[in-house]
Amino acid sequence: MDIARTPSTPDGNYQMADAPPEPVDPPLIRREDYKPFDWLVPQTRLDFALGVESTRVTATLSVARNPAGEQAGEIRLNGDGLTPIEVAVDGQASNSWRMDGNDLILPLAGEAHEIRLVTEIDPAANSQLMGLYASNGMLCTQCEAEGFRRIAFFPDRPDVLSTYTVRMSGERQAFPVLLSNGNLVAQGEDSSGHWAEWHDPWPKPSYLFALVAGDLVARRDTFTTMSGRTVDLAIWVRAEDLDRTEHAMESLIRSMRWDEEVFGREYDLDQFNIVAVGDFNMGAMENKGLNVFNTKYVLADPETATDGDYDGVEGVIAHEYFHNWSGNRVTCRDWFQLSLKEGFTVLRDQLFSEDMRGAAVKRIEDVRLLRSVQFPEDSGPLAHPIRPDSFREIGNFYTPTIYNKGAEVIRMMRTMAGPERFRQGTDLYFERHDGEAATCEDFIRAIEDGAGLDLTQFRLWYAQAGTPKVEAVLDHDGETATLTLRQMVPPTPDQPTKLPVPIPLRLALFDRATGRHNGEQLVVLTEVESVVRFAGFAEKPVLSINRGFSAPVAIERTVEPDDLVFLARHDDDAFARYEAMQELIVGHLVSAIGGGLPDAARTEARQAIGGALSAILTDPELDDAMRGELMMLPSQTYLSEQLLVADPGTIHAEREALKAWLGRTLEGELAALHQRASSQSAGMGHAARGARKVKGQALVFLAAGNPELAATMAASQYDAAETMTDRQAALMVLTGLPGAERTRKLIDFYNRFQNDPLVIDKWFSLQASSLHPQVIEHVKALARHPDFNLKNPNRVRSLFMAFTGTPLGFHAPSGEGYRMIADLILALDPINPSTAARFVTPLGRWRRLEPGRAALMRGELERIAAKAGLSRDTFEQVTRSLG
Ligand code: BES
Ligand code: ZN
Repeated sequence: MDIARTPSTPDGNYQMADAPPEPVDPPLIRREDYKPFDWLVPQTRLDFALGVESTRVTATLSVARNPAGEQAGEIRLNGDGLTPIEVAVDGQASNSWRMDGNDLILPLAGEAHEIRLVTEIDPAANSQLMGLYASNGMLCTQCEAEGFRRIAFFPDRPDVLSTYTVRMSGERQAFPVLLSNGNLVAQGEDSSGHWAEWHDPWPKPSYLFALVAGDLVARRDTFTTMSGRTVDLAIWVRAEDLDRTEHAMESLIRSMRWDEEVFGREYDLDQFNIVAVGDFNMGAMENKGLNVFNTKYVLADPETATDGDYDGVEGVIAHEYFHNWSGNRVTCRDWFQLSLKEGFTVLRDQLFSEDMRGAAVKRIEDVRLLRSVQFPEDSGPLAHPIRPDSFREIGNFYTPTIYNKGAEVIRMMRTMAGPERFRQGTDLYFERHDGEAATCEDFIRAIEDGAGLDLTQFRLWYAQAGTPKVEAVLDHDGETATLTLRQMVPPTPDQPTKLPVPIPLRLALFDRATGRHNGEQLVVLTEVESVVRFAGFAEKPVLSINRGFSAPVAIERTVEPDDLVFLARHDDDAFARYEAMQELIVGHLVSAIGGGLPDAARTEARQAIGGALSAILTDPELDDAMRGELMMLPSQTYLSEQLLVADPGTIHAEREALKAWLGRTLEGELAALHQRASSQSAGMGHAARGARKVKGQALVFLAAGNPELAATMAASQYDAAETMTDRQAALMVLTGLPGAERTRKLIDFYNRFQNDPLVIDKWFSLQASSLHPQVIEHVKALARHPDFNLKNPNRVRSLFMAFTGTPLGFHAPSGEGYRMIADLILALDPINPSTAARFVTPLGRWRRLEPGRAALMRGELERIAAKAGLSRDTFEQVTRSLG
């Protein structure tokens, strides 16, 4: 690897006296090096004199020796870009401190002290959106994972728990509302304006600290907990957004009730506040008693938010609320344990949404997400176990693996224990570790003890990366069906060899004649190879395997298309029905993409798919929400995953050709479905939402099969739309079709919603993700649009993340798409490194691409790596991606 940053041996003869310091790679931090902090910080007092361009922070820390630590003669306080203005120990100004890089080191003898530190920060200049920053004139914080050290010198690590008292003061005009964690204890007026004091009685790590000051209004409600306490709820937004907060409040109340009923978890403060901000790196943040949200996950009304957006609000509100127990009351010992809180909380929010919206459809959505983002990560250069062994920048490990695979791993424990015993395990976990900073190992042990499982071998799921493959062969002889299962965990970076893991597979064997099975079984594969025999089958049964996606593995089997058509029709497990359709289509597309598929075979495969799809379109028993799922073609990324070497152009062409064939062949049924659903799609109820989903799907097929017809239908759907779901679905189809209607509707959409940033984000992303052949030109023009803004992460993602999904744009054979993303990374890195680094992932897929594109992609990664002064975030992702 030829990267300028690699330190070389200094050579006295050549090095000039004033040569700039040799850049050094950011250090690798290892899980095995964990040591408890030498000091405890039982209490922290923070005083903020607020100003958008200058905020003065006075932090007072009471510290005491940690009996579990070493007898150190000093204390290390992390900082990031801070300069100390005053340092005092026990009331005496100190000048014996020194800086070590960004950290402040203070000599400290004795057992207990009070340290006082004053710093000054400029929130307006904070474009990273980590620490204290300004957004739309308001001030807010984001501290996870290591943002608190941009506010005050502090042991900024999750195992240092402290109770916080926060006082803030500022001009009443600019900051009429002053919020922090916990409960408001006092407020008043003083010479500089007004002030408020908050106290959080629950000890917490610094990453859960939050402060918000600004001109905000609240939607208020109350919740009575299971023990009869009343909690005051408030969702804070800008005045013009207040009427779009009803859904968020309802979601919060449903989450609070559900966590009591399903996990026995009660809220523990008198107040719960949520604030929505327009500039936010992530979706939302679970700060104790003061969740801070991206506006995208708070604001919703039918005219501006799609049904998918409604689900997103409900799921994210639930997720952050659930962290109050899985994350805050029990937090993480160190950042290697991130999946302890994130994987578990994702599972909890998934189960909540299954209960709210229907388990089958939610499970299918979650599996689709896992396969389209986590499986590729697990098979690429950034693969890592759900409990990583090392990192350079923790921000890079908020990944689909930690989150979504982490949730799947805990879901498998639940599947093996059953929900009741699993609940006993989680009860024990919360009881044992309440108020502690715990590890994944603590969680596993609590589930073992509480649920009565032996998870000895299961622990490998925490240590090994890579998606296991399970080969399934079903033989039939006489009256016996024999299922042979073989597992293989593929090699991943730094892990060339793997051990077999326990794989819980729910399976059923269907009788072809009756269309029924005689009971589902759970088989837990623990060896490389297992053989299971089933007696009493005169005829070879049809195998339904990994029902409900009981394990996050890839099943590999040879199966007759007829059997898949059978399962798509008869399986009583909704996920398995979806899976059968996917397998049927993937099987065909993979052989078509491979080339040399004879015309007769192509026709036969298409007819099988067409027949199954036709049955789905017209089945009166099917709920539209489920019908909509069954109508979805496997994604471009999922298809690429099935191939050793991918040519995005060919994959796209074959997928589109199938879509067009289905659109033409089933035109009548699709148009009839669209018409029927249109008459049922008013309102926000379950049936109307389902109707809108199938309308959108029908239009997608028709657009490929009969573009003129689809354009006319989409234009009238757009004009008649009463919901953003209908309007966006219509505009999406039109955006992909060249023609005058495209321009007219895009202009109309912009004019209608120009004052609504979240909707303008949709306007950017619809164009950037479209199937239009000129998508590259469109994206270039949009990047120069006056509404484009590199400082707003939502806007950046809506244009460029959307673009990375386009086979014709991002993967243009010229390499222009790759260059555009590399240029973006280089421009964004100095502004917002954590957002910039997230764009490296799509460039990391080069090993799996055909040689031409692979070289172009790699070239762009090398160009980024050669740039001096890269952030730790981008540096780590680029070097890992180059491998
Ligand atoms: N704790 C995270 C937010 C976070 C992540 C802050 C990384 C800083 C760095 C929060 O609980 C979270 O996981 N948010 C998700 C949404 C959630 C529904 C999966 C997010 O922001 O994407
Ligand atoms: Zn989370």
